[in-house]
Amino acid sequence: MDARDRLIVALDLPAVKDAEAMVSRLGDSVTFYKIGYQLAFAGGLSFTSALIAAGKQVFLDLKLHDIGNTVAKGVESVAQTGATFLTVHAYPQTMKAAMEGKRGSKLKILAVTVLTSYDDADLFTAGYKLGVSALVGQRAGQARDLQVDGLVCSAEEAANLRKIVGPSLSLVTPGIRPAGAAKDDQKRIMTPEKAIAAGADYLVVGRPIVESPDPKAAAEAIVAEIQSAKGA
Ligand code: C5P
Repeated sequence: MDARDRLIVALDLPAVKDAEAMVSRLGDSVTFYKIGYQLAFAGGLSFTSALIAAGKQVFLDLKLHDIGNTVAKGVESVAQTGATFLTVHAYPQTMKAAMEGKRGSKLKILAVTVLTSYDDADLFTAGYKLGVSALVGQRAGQARDLQVDGLVCSAEEAANLRKIVGPSLSLVTPGIRPAGAAKDDQKRIMTPEKAIAAGADYLVVGRPIVESPDPKAAAEAIVAEIQSAKGA
């Protein structure tokens, strides 16, 4: 895979006009964009079609989780947009329904194991008995058994998860910070180079690019780091 196609830029921006301006500033440097809550609920779902028409790939980070029938029908609708990736939370019922909903389309379902802003203490506070590593492992095994297309995980977990899920699932890692960049609210971070070496297939990067004074240069630097990483 081309190094450039392994970078997914998170368009965490308030309005479509901001996203359009960012996409045009980034130009050919970026081929893959992620649209999450903020932009999706501000007109970003229709912006998906414009990006696809412009030859870009789109990752809809909607982290679905509902009763099976609702998830399956929602995923059927998402599949018609031409998006490449869609996230769901890694609960067995939800993953199973999403895989049914996308049948016959090119959409790939990514399961979110445990959000990268959570540590063990946050999980216990939320009522879980397992810590991050045990819960991620359990959910990864369930995703593999349900033949989900990939997992969203922290780069720290990538090497271990690869052992659990095997070579066919894509590992998509947010929480990426080039050396010296601000950590923001992420608790489990890794540099682009280390994440690729740890077995990540795709890197999701938001603030280090979209909040950079020179987003294109920031994106190019990450692509170069992906290219030169061991295991790329
Ligand atoms: O700005 P930053 O690089 O931290 O953005 C990371 C992106 O990845 C955000 O859009 C965030 O919602 C998303 N994400 C995450 N952790 C997950 C799943 C998605 O940070 N487990």
